[in-house]
Amino acid sequence: MVATIKDVDFKGQNVLVRVDYNVPMQDGKITDDLRIVASLPTIKYLREHGARRIVLISHFGRPEGKRAPELSLKPIAEHLQKLIPDTKVEFVDEVSGPEVEEAVENLPDGGILVLENLRFFPGEEADSDEFAREIVDATHADLFVQDGFAVIHRAHASTDAVARELPSVAGLLLGKEIANLSKVADNPKHPFLVVIGGAKVEDKQPLIDKFLPVADQIFVGGKIAADGYKSDNLKIVVASDFSDDQKFDIGEESTAKVLELASRAKTVLWNGALGKAEDKEYEKASKALAEFLGQHPEITSVICGGDTTSFVENLQKQEPNLEYMLVSTGGGAALELLTGEDLPGLEALEGEN
Ligand code: 3PG
Repeated sequence: MVATIKDVDFKGQNVLVRVDYNVPMQDGKITDDLRIVASLPTIKYLREHGARRIVLISHFGRPEGKRAPELSLKPIAEHLQKLIPDTKVEFVDEVSGPEVEEAVENLPDGGILVLENLRFFPGEEADSDEFAREIVDATHADLFVQDGFAVIHRAHASTDAVARELPSVAGLLLGKEIANLSKVADNPKHPFLVVIGGAKVEDKQPLIDKFLPVADQIFVGGKIAADGYKSDNLKIVVASDFSDDQKFDIGEESTAKVLELASRAKTVLWNGALGKAEDKEYEKASKALAEFLGQHPEITSVICGGDTTSFVENLQKQEPNLEYMLVSTGGGAALELLTGEDLPGLEALEGEN
């Protein structure tokens, strides 16, 4: 077990927090703020436990070591400010150096500073110790909190090297994601249904392989089914009818089938939309499943994968009565955890003990 924020005293400390604010954005507007909202409990905890200054670091997109103005974290810091109007959120367009140092020194007690996109700098993806040290020095950080669950499968400076520079613990989001996903990966209640959708079979096959021995049933929908996914295994049910000629959504019969399987399950793991759900016209099957699971909180349901979680999150905004055990903030990270891959960001924290 890694140490968590509950194990340390933050009074008077400067805390560097790795969050994952890699949120979907369209025309400069955040289309789903799940990852920002999910970071709030840790921020609140740190403030309530006397942290002196809180410095948030994140990546956004894949700028490959160069500045890309459209991938600045500034609008994301502004969104965070709207979510916590009682606390001033500052932003600085650097991650180290004198501007950061000055911004940190000017922060009031309990103040929050968001640094610029870590991936504007090659040291981040190179897992550079020097880059991590520069951030730690400029922010006068005493402690590091890893709360960016969605990036925990990357060995980058802000997930790995930084833990060699500072005493490091897991934040509340990281703890919650790992606890809930591990429950499903290690000890699911049966009947256990796994629903797989999405577009790329090569991304989803490891998940099917991993869960085949433990799941009672696997339902395959989405583009994978539309592209003709085949299996001889009796546990695997592949959607067989589609709503339209282009096969952009599964059809009524297959939707009824997945709902019937879900109604008999005690645990449902859902990864990947059942159709082209970003398009209202083709969201019917995904919506039916999301509504069914959300209306049956007695079923332990775990939703993961970027598009699926965005879809469910946005539906919950229209239908706030929908409840799930976990809508995971992790895409690749959740898949890697579920399929038993090593998670370098977690190992870096384990190295602490
Ligand atoms: C994600 O969106 O899955 C995480 O933020 C990781 O992003 P990456 O795949 O660009 O490393």
